[in-house]
Amino acid sequence: MEKDLSNYRKSYEKKSLLKAALPENPMELFQKWFYEADSFESIEEVNIMHLATIGLDGFPKNRVVLLKRFTWEGFVFYTNYNSEKGKAIANNPNVCATFFWHGLERQIIVKGKVEKIAENLSDGYFESRPEGSKLGAWASKQSEVIASRDVLDKKLEEVEKKFRESEIPRPKYWGGYIVKPISIEFWQGRANRMHDRIRYTLQHNFDWKIDRLEP
Ligand SMILES: Cc1cc2nc3c(=O)[nH]c(=O)nc-3n(C[C@H](O)[C@H](O)[C@H](O)COP(=O)(O)O)c2cc1C
Repeated sequence: MEKDLSNYRKSYEKKSLLKAALPENPMELFQKWFYEADSFESIEEVNIMHLATIGLDGFPKNRVVLLKRFTWEGFVFYTNYNSEKGKAIANNPNVCATFFWHGLERQIIVKGKVEKIAENLSDGYFESRPEGSKLGAWASKQSEVIASRDVLDKKLEEVEKKFRESEIPRPKYWGGYIVKPISIEFWQGRANRMHDRIRYTLQHNFDWKIDRLEP
């Protein structure tokens, strides 16, 4: 099979990112870009975050998770702590998270360290989820091999039965992580591939160093 994509190209010309206009803390710029993306009509699921971990097999693995909260501290998502990513994180908390908002020609790349969030925060978020998602968390041993779809559907039926008369608690193996950034790079597409790239790097005194990178 062969498909030549050399003609697939686009000029990025919508916006710019100038050092003079930058806040001291990158989370402030993240918030500004997030709100702009959120109010941009053609961007769906603005909270899609591509999360790369370093696996037990030594390979990086990237997958989409949903960003569920951000604060000065970092970026929170929820998952199964026993999943492939959970095991990877337990072994090596260094991750990379990427956002790409096509309509605004913007990419953000976060390098950071992951920590579990407090149990009561995970409880609170789990409580807010629709019942179907709660049951799904009980039914799925995320990332394990399963014999068939039928087996999975049966597991769901079983947990539905189990919790028919009672509240659905959060499984202990399911909860939130926070990515605490050590660097955040903001990428703004520009014409002629002369893109703007601004990188914030956390310093020992908790200040952020700001550098412009060549495109
Ligand atoms: C749009 C989208 C949103 C997703 N959100 C989540 C999420 O918030 N948490 C999660 O564990 N998996 C989410 N997934 C599934 C993951 O991409 C992945 O399949 C799953 O977490 C298992 O990954 P792992 O085997 O590498 O641990 C999402 C997938 C897509 C496409």
